[in-house]
Amino acid sequence: MLERTFVMLKPGVLQRRLVGEVLNRFERKGLKIIALKLLRMDRNMVETHYAEHKGKDFYDKLVEYTLSGPVIAMVFEGEEAIGVVRRLTGPTALDSAQSGTIRGDYAARTRLNIVHASDSPGSAEREIRLFFTPQEFCEWDDGNQDWF
Ligand code: CMP
Repeated sequence: MLERTFVMLKPGVLQRRLVGEVLNRFERKGLKIIALKLLRMDRNMVETHYAEHKGKDFYDKLVEYTLSGPVIAMVFEGEEAIGVVRRLTGPTALDSAQSGTIRGDYAARTRLNIVHASDSPGSAEREIRLFFTPQEFCEWDDGNQDWF
């Protein structure tokens, strides 16, 4: 099924100059970028995005880290895109993130796991709506080639 999913490259990706490398992981898989922007989230937006984690021991540090610099927000489209992206990023807990996944290859701490990706159709819809207006989407086609 054709799905849309939300991905956020966290501030560390820009600070470590890893934007191109991380984007490459998604692009080479064949996922299609249909919305993308560089932004600085404000506290209210971060608290809305991470509302389900409020009260957890890592919550305050997670909020501060997310506010520490700009993030890159994007929407990918593709067949089963939500699961495909989650498998590319690897699991949240870094002790189970395998080498070859983005988190397994680039992150050393769970809190600084460098990317956020929607974990279900419901969260994808909610997160896409938090970050993007309908006008910010760009629909395009692949010239009818079966590249992927
Ligand atoms: P993310 O996918 O952005 O969603 C919630 C974030 O909370 C997660 O990535 C991590 O950055 C952070 N997080 C989740 N679990 C833990 C944990 N056990 N310890 C520290 N940070 C965590």
